[in-house]
Amino acid sequence: MSFKRNILELRKRKKEAQQGGGEKAIEKQVAMGKKTARERVKAILDENSFHEYDLFVEHTGRDFDMDKKILHGDGVIIGTGTMYGQPVAIYAQDFTVFGGSLGLMHARKITKIMDHALKMRVPLIGINDSGGARIQEGVNSLAGYGEIFYRNTNASGVIPQISVILGPCAGGAVYSPALTDFVFVVENISKMFITGPGVIKSVLGEEISMEELGGAMVHSEISGNAHFFAKSEDECFEQIKKLITFIPWNNAQKALRFPAAEPLASANIEEIVPNDPHLPYDIRDVIRAVTDNSDFFEIMEYFARNIVIGFGRIDGNTVGFVANQPMYLAGVLDCDSSDKAARFIRYCDAFNIPIVTLEDMPGYLPGVDQEHAGVIRHGAKLLYAYSEATVPRVTVIIRKAYGGGYIAMNSRHLGADFVFAWPTAEIAVMGPEGAANIIFKKEIDESENPEETRKQKIQEYKDKFANPFVAASKGYIDEVIEPLETRARLIHSLEVSASKVDTRPLRKHGIPPF
Ligand code: HXC
Repeated sequence: MSFKRNILELRKRKKEAQQGGGEKAIEKQVAMGKKTARERVKAILDENSFHEYDLFVEHTGRDFDMDKKILHGDGVIIGTGTMYGQPVAIYAQDFTVFGGSLGLMHARKITKIMDHALKMRVPLIGINDSGGARIQEGVNSLAGYGEIFYRNTNASGVIPQISVILGPCAGGAVYSPALTDFVFVVENISKMFITGPGVIKSVLGEEISMEELGGAMVHSEISGNAHFFAKSEDECFEQIKKLITFIPWNNAQKALRFPAAEPLASANIEEIVPNDPHLPYDIRDVIRAVTDNSDFFEIMEYFARNIVIGFGRIDGNTVGFVANQPMYLAGVLDCDSSDKAARFIRYCDAFNIPIVTLEDMPGYLPGVDQEHAGVIRHGAKLLYAYSEATVPRVTVIIRKAYGGGYIAMNSRHLGADFVFAWPTAEIAVMGPEGAANIIFKKEIDESENPEETRKQKIQEYKDKFANPFVAASKGYIDEVIEPLETRARLIHSLEVSASKVDTRPLRKHGIPPF
């Protein structure tokens, strides 16, 4: 064969191999509002930057007539490319080939690119669109999943791992995304569940649609498995591109520095918190009043809304925000909000991202439901995550800082580097009403006018404790600041902590209250 003919043969083979499951299967995919695996990879990476590996890999299944169905690539595309000119590794399951199901060679391709990503210390993006373990390949498929989970765990905290759910993600397949840092879902397209509607019907006799069982909003709002919700694949790809600007490429680096910018003039920090301490407000307005361009990239927007987490930049540098949200349940801490914040704190700590905590909450949520759901265990995760974090940590107490919540929300006592309080801060063991009712109970009950005495005692307690000055007098907070001074204080405190060195005792690892 001449050189020219070799080249032509290669091109022909490549073209054939890139056809996926054929026209009919692709038409079905497109009709569902889904892009093909190749289009998805292209949409995420820099233009023309994708290099594909293992295009000619073939599956090894020989049972159930699988030997008659050989399709190149085995249902998954793997490769490397760039985002903003920096290298990333990526894989995308191709639902048009055997329903994107995972057989031995399919799994080997994924583990190959995972090994590559970890060795090269670059982010790994996995696009999941699969019917799960390839039934015809039996235990080889299960082995494949196990090897993926093992690598997800090994790479955790070393390189960023991003999972994108763009189709079904069924059975054990859901556990790879669950082991990664960020899970993206798209309305009407993403479906995640351990056991599908069919199994539920046969075992429990209950009818449920795939959407109701494990659709995109279910995982964004109820289960907390998803971190980002989008209405279309295109919107999802934009979210991924935005996320990647905030995080470093691996745990030995810092996130890219951007040109510093002031918050927008409309974000007036002095007009956000209402005069009446019982009234709610949106804590995200405070975040936007201190970040560059008032930009805040919220994570898990729909889950445990009583706490807000996400990234912003201060003076050009990425910061992770953890903030109580008075708009939901008065910003109280509970099982889900503790889980949500604790995991994010650990992410920031693993990837050298300073944490800014904004505090306004009445403590942990009381009640039988919470106690029985394990608020002790879940709440402890928050204490653990803050205490072990060695990245710069700054707290601003905006309003309420009561009880265990005061300690948990990155207090000085858990190792915060800087703690500021606004003059509106109320730092106490509990709210004035509850406190007065307990410590002055006898006086209130025995007085001639119990209601009047109660009011007086509440006021007495407020005057004494519902302010930041008692804590300031003991050095528990460093400075009482005016709201307008917040951004400047954050810039300065993050600047002086840029070379922070903090160590923990040598150990294999701690035992967090998982
Ligand atoms: C082999 C599969 C497959 C699978 C789908 N296909 N899932 N092939 N193994 N797991 C094939 C179908 O046979 C079909 O092939 C093609 O993919 C498209 O599938 P359809 O059913 O036509 O598509 P759709 O109607 O869109 O339904 C998609 C689906 C459904 C919801 C994913 O296929 C489904 O329920 N699949 C099984 C899901 C499941 O229970 N997986 C768990 C496996 S156990 P043809 O040739 O007809 O086009 C598991 C345990 C792992 O994952 C544990 C690890 C720890």
